[in-house]
Amino acid sequence: MSLLRRSLVALATSALAATPLLALAQAPLVVKFSHVVAGDTPKGKAAEFFAKRAAELTGGKVKVEVYANSTLYKDKEEMEALQLGAVQMLAPSLAKFGPLGAKEFEVFDLPFIFDNYDELHRVTQGKVGQQLLGKLEGRGIKGLAFWDNGFKSMSANKALKNPEDFKGLKMRIQSSKVLEAQMRAVGALPQVMAFSEVYQALQTGVVDGTENPHSNLFTQKMHEVQKHMSLTEHGYLGYAVITNKKFWDGLPADVRGQLEKAMQESTVYANKIAKEENDAALEKVKASGKTAVYQPTPAERLAIKKAMVKVHEEMASRIGKDIIDTVYKETGFDPSKL
Ligand code: LMR
Repeated sequence: MSLLRRSLVALATSALAATPLLALAQAPLVVKFSHVVAGDTPKGKAAEFFAKRAAELTGGKVKVEVYANSTLYKDKEEMEALQLGAVQMLAPSLAKFGPLGAKEFEVFDLPFIFDNYDELHRVTQGKVGQQLLGKLEGRGIKGLAFWDNGFKSMSANKALKNPEDFKGLKMRIQSSKVLEAQMRAVGALPQVMAFSEVYQALQTGVVDGTENPHSNLFTQKMHEVQKHMSLTEHGYLGYAVITNKKFWDGLPADVRGQLEKAMQESTVYANKIAKEENDAALEKVKASGKTAVYQPTPAERLAIKKAMVKVHEEMASRIGKDIIDTVYKETGFDPSKL
């Protein structure tokens, strides 16, 4: 048993023993919702919205406590904590499910697979999305919804216009083999790192650059330690909202139904604000004057696209060719037409 696992079990047991039975009967059911980004982001705001609607719809029977900015757990720990039941809800990025064995989720990391939110929603809000969430059940996890963030920009201390500009740069990535391959495809050196550590790693030069939607970049102040940012929109970053399956299945049916409704409403809200939040964050980055924001020309973007899209074939055996083809069918993407 790892140290973390031991202390989580001890914590859960002592908390239970210390709670008098009467208090248990009257106190609201506390649902801990942990995440790694700032409160002022699409995910942070949607988690707060869910907490509010959960309290309203259950008439106060459920109290959702939101822990933002990795204050409770960092990336890898939060998955373990959810499976152990030390926390009840998370919304990890889709790029973080590979280490759990749910490699299909890395389809969302394939560079240039989605051109816009509409194409993406055909997958996440449709049948394919439901099938993907269902794949988590064997791991003690219940998938509740997909929440958007947005399309990623690249940043570094040099201008990133052409594929060659990435050569030799140490680029921080999330824990996804597809993102690893994507960075290698342009000659960069990918480095997996927890989100909470990125700012410092950029500041101290442990890594040279990174990729993220603008809301994440701005709220973590990454633009203050990156001289250049390129609006490549080369890939998507979004979330699966997940819960501990045993916890969810053990809820009284009426409460579960109310929480499902709160989740449906939160998903509509999250997916409505995501683009606005990212656009606003980009304007704030520009206004700060701390980083030079570059819009690649169509020819430059196409060169990056051509260099990266070969990753689709390279990763087909890992992700599953079927799921990639299903997504192509939904979005109309055809790599042979580049
Ligand atoms: C990252 O690690 O860059 C993102 O997954 C953070 C997040 O949750 O949006």
